Amino acid sequence: MAFVGCLFFPCFVVILGAVQPCRTPDEFVAISSPGDIVIGGLFAIHGRTVRSGPGNPQRPEIPYCAGFEIQGFLQSMCMIFAIESINNSTLLPGIKLGYEIYDTCAEVTVALAAAMRFLSKFNTSENFVEFQCNYTNYIPRVKAVVGGSYSEETMAISRLLNLDLIPLVSHSASAEILSNKIRFPSFLRTIPSDSYQTKAMAQLIHGYGWNWIGILATDDDYGRLALENFGNEAMAFNVCIAFREILPSHLSDSTINSKINKVLNVITRESRVNVIVAFLKSYLVVKLFEKAIVRKIQRTWIASDSWSTSTKIGSILNFNKIGNVIGFTFKNGNVSAFLNFLTYLGKEQIRNNKLLKQYAALLSDCSKDINLIQCISNYSKESWMYSTSVDNQTLHVDFLPDIVQPGFVHSTQMAVNAIAYAIRNLCKDRNCKDPNAFGPWELLQALKKVTFIDDGRRIKFNPTGDINIGYDVVIWKQTQKGILNITTVAAYNLESETFIFKDEKEEKDFYDLKAIQSKCSDECQPGQMKKTSTSPHTCCYECVICPENHYTNETDMGYCLLCNNQTHWSPANSSICFKKDVDYFDWDDGLAIVLTILSCIGIILILTTCIIFTKHLNTPVVKASGGLLCHIILLSLFFSFLSTGFFIGKPEDFKCMARQMMFGISFTVCVSCILLKSLKILLAFSFDPQIQDILKCLYKPFTMVFTCTGIQVIICAFWLVFRAPHVVENVAISKMIILECAEGSIVIFGVMLGYIAILAFTCFIFAFKGRKLPENYNEAKFITFGMLIYFIVWITFIPVYVTTFGKFLPAVEVIVILISNYGILVCTFFPKCYVILYKQESNTKSAFLKLIYNYSSKSVSSHTISQASVESRSTEHRSSIADSCYKTSINCVSNGHFYFQKPEQMFISGQRPLRSLARNLPRKRTSSI
Ligand SMILES: *[C@@H]1O[C@H](CO)[C@@H](O)[C@H](O)[C@H]1NC(C)=O
Ligand SMILES: *[C@@H]1O[C@H](CO)[C@@H](O)[C@H](O)[C@H]1NC(C)=O
Ligand SMILES: *[C@@H]1O[C@H](CO)[C@@H](O)[C@H](O)[C@H]1NC(C)=O
Ligand SMILES: *[C@@H]1O[C@H](CO)[C@@H](O)[C@H](O)[C@H]1NC(C)=O
Ligand SMILES: *[C@@H]1O[C@H](CO)[C@@H](O)[C@H](O)[C@H]1NC(C)=O
Ligand SMILES: *[C@@H]1O[C@H](CO)[C@@H](O)[C@H](O)[C@H]1NC(C)=O
Repeated sequence: MAFVGCLFFPCFVVILGAVQPCRTPDEFVAISSPGDIVIGGLFAIHGRTVRSGPGNPQRPEIPYCAGFEIQGFLQSMCMIFAIESINNSTLLPGIKLGYEIYDTCAEVTVALAAAMRFLSKFNTSENFVEFQCNYTNYIPRVKAVVGGSYSEETMAISRLLNLDLIPLVSHSASAEILSNKIRFPSFLRTIPSDSYQTKAMAQLIHGYGWNWIGILATDDDYGRLALENFGNEAMAFNVCIAFREILPSHLSDSTINSKINKVLNVITRESRVNVIVAFLKSYLVVKLFEKAIVRKIQRTWIASDSWSTSTKIGSILNFNKIGNVIGFTFKNGNVSAFLNFLTYLGKEQIRNNKLLKQYAALLSDCSKDINLIQCISNYSKESWMYSTSVDNQTLHVDFLPDIVQPGFVHSTQMAVNAIAYAIRNLCKDRNCKDPNAFGPWELLQALKKVTFIDDGRRIKFNPTGDINIGYDVVIWKQTQKGILNITTVAAYNLESETFIFKDEKEEKDFYDLKAIQSKCSDECQPGQMKKTSTSPHTCCYECVICPENHYTNETDMGYCLLCNNQTHWSPANSSICFKKDVDYFDWDDGLAIVLTILSCIGIILILTTCIIFTKHLNTPVVKASGGLLCHIILLSLFFSFLSTGFFIGKPEDFKCMARQMMFGISFTVCVSCILLKSLKILLAFSFDPQIQDILKCLYKPFTMVFTCTGIQVIICAFWLVFRAPHVVENVAISKMIILECAEGSIVIFGVMLGYIAILAFTCFIFAFKGRKLPENYNEAKFITFGMLIYFIVWITFIPVYVTTFGKFLPAVEVIVILISNYGILVCTFFPKCYVILYKQESNTKSAFLKLIYNYSSKSVSSHTISQASVESRSTEHRSSIADSCYKTSINCVSNGHFYFQKPEQMFISGQRPLRSLARNLPRKRTSSI
């Protein structure tokens, strides 16, 4: 389209009008030097512009500049120094570099005017920019431009210079967007993009443990882009931004004071924000700090590269009252050669250099001021008002080492060097004395590929046109004289994203700032966790204590960790997990002692009973209760008591098995012996011959006891083989691991107990039937009672056992065993012992016979069980039965417990005689009663 346009319309020419106060374009140039190849320079040597009239511009005139910026001046001098150094060296043999430096006054429009002049055609007296559709063969005034002090003006110039692809190499414009080579194809810079700086800042803030901060930025492309960039990086590092405030970027803005006041109000209000990041131009920071000091606002400031080394701010009185300043700067270079150059500038040079003249005038105006730096920094005369009678002035440079910002000097030198090296590469095969030898676009290609040595390092532009050599981190300190000393405390490596310290002192200085707090909420102690739901910011939270079995071992944890609930526990609000104690029903437990004592008493009672019974083995009472059978019962009860010992103490697999088996089998033996007894009672007093037949059939003592016990043994064997009881760790209880015996199979356990219960129930039924038999010798009543106790206890046991939890579970079973043992012991043996010891008169044959006699007479009259009993209802008959029972050799079943054939053999005990009797029974039954 442009080509077509060119066909139909004559290509027109833009002529730069000469406006006040620069009457000719050459007056607009700040400083220049001729050369074969001319390099342009753009520096903000003044900080603001002044219009000739009030308000907005009425006429299209380039405004005056005011407010001398010594840093901009030094940067432009640095460019001159670098070019002169190259000209003195052998880098470009036979080629002289020239320069043309303009003052942008930190104003985009002024910078654009300069850019127009750069674009204007080379070597023509008229300053015009020719419109062309194809600038390939167009040769402008300059081949490359160093500069753009600020991102905003740089972006504007760069877009203009794109037209001719004139390389623009900036030493300080850091906005990230300039890395975009689609928008800014001819832009290069010798510093890293802000995206690295914002990331490093966020990392630094995070490293210091701050998470509640404020941001200030200028209202321009630099500030707004940095703000956005930093916001993203901060979020990635979990740093929250309490406020973002924008300040006008131009000092000529009339609202600047009210905006600064507003920002200071915000800072005062957000009292928890102790750290403020500022992407501001240094003259704004000066204004801000002056007001902050008046309002006694003290914070920690994080300085972007734009003001971190600004000595102008340091010249404010009491600058240390604004708090700490930590900042990022571009990598330092060696500035001594540059300072040397400044020191030995000849008078001749000063006279020919407009900039130097201004500077010298300024020095002379300030020479009477005590604080020279402050005077220079605050010097705000319009440029054309400087006195020009400086012929005999010498440059006063003693204070320059304190002022110069080595980072910017370094980056400016690099920019010039990069261009020079690119020119050298380009001029290898052409005569560069000819201004038409190459176009700017060719230099741009060469620049993108150039590598050069800086401080012993090979340097190259990366694909986005930046040079990423990292940052230095500086801290502001006050010297004894009260002067600002900007101390480097760390270097930041972009590749590894780490802070590197040269020595321990640096590291200490760096970490000293850790003492400063800037958090939205006080940190949560170990044992607590953050609860963020109450605020939109993740950094603002309440602390809630961790529940039981949870812990946090670090501060500010977002969640509680879970203790391993198998082996550990923790109370609420805990920072550690405690190991669970291992617990079990041990001997030193009070209940265990009581139960053990009860067991021992039981065993003592058994032994006592055993002695009494053995001593009176031949008395009717003992014989009636079974004689040696009693010893078997006592023995089984003894083992039953003994088994309780296995329930107490540290569980082991062996004990777990032994206790159930021992109890189960011994108690079965006991119950089956009692069953035998009750069977005998029934047998003795059952007058129905048919029932008697069955009972007699059953009554085989050895076989019975053996069979009953054998079944239990089989059950136990099954249990042991298939699901043996074993030790388990019960971890269900917090704070403790309980060692206990798992029964292996509850079903077999139930079967074992159930089997005993069936035996006991049979016993109970038999005994119940015989409960009305003669008192002194009749155990039926007591057996009934004993079995009742057994049932009650075991029926109670089931729900208690099921619901009991923890280490006292064995105690429950022990209690149940003890009660049932005691029940049997007390009911079966104590009445006998009582009779043996205290009613010896009734423990004789005669008393016994009398009793039987009395009973049989009663029973015959009351029981109409058998035909025989009905037929013999006479007193004579009764007495004859008793008599015959005792004296004759016929079988006499009496009192349920003893058989006798002959008087001399009347009491039979032990198994052998019993068995023989049992064999005899069927044969003789018809002859009885
Ligand atoms: C360049 O050489 C000239 C003459 O030798 C000298 O005066 C000047 O200071 C040198 N410049 C630099 C930057 O070395
Ligand atoms: C621009 O001019 C150059 C040199 O004259 C030529 O090589 C190139 O093809 C031209 N480009 C266009 C698009 O005409
Ligand atoms: C400058 O100094 C020279 C001698 O050093 C003197 O002759 C001359 O008058 C001085 N000029 C001014 C303007 O002071
Ligand atoms: C600044 O501080 C550094 C280290 O703290 C010290 O070496 C240097 O001499 C100081 N400079 C001035 C001008 O006091
Ligand atoms: C906290 O506990 C976790 C998990 O057990 C562990 O990895 C971490 O090192 C602990 N931290 C401290 C400070 O002890
Ligand atoms: C132990 O923790 C697990 C989850 O880690 C849970 O499923 C289990 O119920 C817990 N046990 C107890 C006894 O609290």
